[in-house]
Amino acid sequence: MAIRLIVKDPDPVLREKSKPVTKINANIHKLLKDMADTMYDAEGVGLAAPQIGILKRVIVMDVGDDHGLIELINPEVIETEGEQFGPEGCLSIPGLNGDVRRAERVVVKGLDRDGNEIVIEGTELLARCILHEVDHLNGVLYTDLAEKVYRIDPKGGEA
Ligand code: NI
Repeated sequence: MAIRLIVKDPDPVLREKSKPVTKINANIHKLLKDMADTMYDAEGVGLAAPQIGILKRVIVMDVGDDHGLIELINPEVIETEGEQFGPEGCLSIPGLNGDVRRAERVVVKGLDRDGNEIVIEGTELLARCILHEVDHLNGVLYTDLAEKVYRIDPKGGEA
């Protein structure tokens, strides 16, 4: 178990565009494991590799539903539908939440840890989380999109 340091805004690494993974090897498996460990330790629901300073297109999520831990390499949103509007937080921006408009339903494809293509459909919190994490890979933070950002007591539910 290795918990990595979570990079905080305004670290410029959070504004970089991450590179696709070209080869899934032991380093990527270690990265996935460390990212999940770090996410659970911080009581977050998602984490993107740039949040631990690694500019690779890798995300992990666990919103506490039947999907359990989701590991996605080179994720690509292929479908969005509907709209939801609500609070969102980020492990890289502790102590703040913001109200963000997102799609209600999202379909994302990517590679699993064995390099197999997988497709995941998410609604509600998972849809929000998928879009939030993919944004991280493009250097976008939720505060760029939020209609209002406000102070909260730092605790779980951040991504
Ligand atoms: Ni985040």
